[in-house]
Amino acid sequence: KTLETASWIGIRCPLQRSVKRRGATKLRAAEGTRAGAGRKKSMAAAAARKSVCVTGAGGFVASWLVKLLLSKGHYTVRGTVRDPGNAKNAHLKALEGAGERLELLSADLLNYDSIASAVAGCEGVFHVASPVPSGRSTNPEEEVIAPAVTGTLNVLKACYEAKVKRVVMVSSIAAVFNNPNWPKGKVFDEDSWSDEDLCRKGEVSKPMPLHLLNLILPRRLFSSV
Ligand SMILES: NC(=O)c1ccc[n+]([C@@H]2O[C@H](COP(=O)([O-])OP(=O)(O)OC[C@H]3O[C@@H](n4cnc5c(N)ncnc54)[C@H](OP(=O)(O)O)[C@@H]3O)[C@@H](O)[C@H]2O)c1
Repeated sequence: KTLETASWIGIRCPLQRSVKRRGATKLRAAEGTRAGAGRKKSMAAAAARKSVCVTGAGGFVASWLVKLLLSKGHYTVRGTVRDPGNAKNAHLKALEGAGERLELLSADLLNYDSIASAVAGCEGVFHVASPVPSGRSTNPEEEVIAPAVTGTLNVLKACYEAKVKRVVMVSSIAAVFNNPNWPKGKVFDEDSWSDEDLCRKGEVSKPMPLHLLNLILPRRLFSSV
């Protein structure tokens, strides 16, 4: 009571100081224990977090996916981009949680080793990267279709080798809707594939029929595995 009064009127007696010191020492010890426990907890949380890989992380669809995965808090996200230093990928580093849980790796779909390193140790892989030309390609077979198909094969092989539990591939309406044999009015599902020959002959709806193969072939490949 005396101590309380003394401290209230602003007098600091030796007893009060020693009580305070003991209190402070105890407080520091308690804080140390709490901080240690907090560190252990966050290390345990980091160890419990699953790693997932998103290919083509800087692209339109993949960026939203990375944001969603980071927002869940329980994933460590490995995003592949062709050039991690490119300013067009800067938005990824600014995402909430990116500092602690996003790793950007350099990988090209046509380089198997780079894909294999990116998916190693991941529980799940979202394959989103694909050449998506903004205009007409002069050589779509080589520039668009080959990377899409070979890239998908590389991703699937690397995931198989790394025993990845689940692979998700982004699809597109273009993969299913140019199918003249599909009953009119029936809802499109995975039993329908856009007709490859019609796409090659350019007899499908615009634009860029050959580019549709970029969307159809890898998906058909994926669904057959
Ligand atoms: N956008 C849509 O509304 C929509 C709708 C349905 C389906 N999809 C499908 O979703 C996928 C992504 O579309 P998006 O609109 O997000 O396209 P996007 O913004 O152009 O993203 C594609 C990504 O693929 C990467 N990529 C291209 N070639 C690559 C290669 N050889 N190696 C490694 N990465 C490569 C690009 O990375 P770089 O930055 O390194 O070039 C780019 O970040 C496509 O398959 C598309 O068909 C999109």
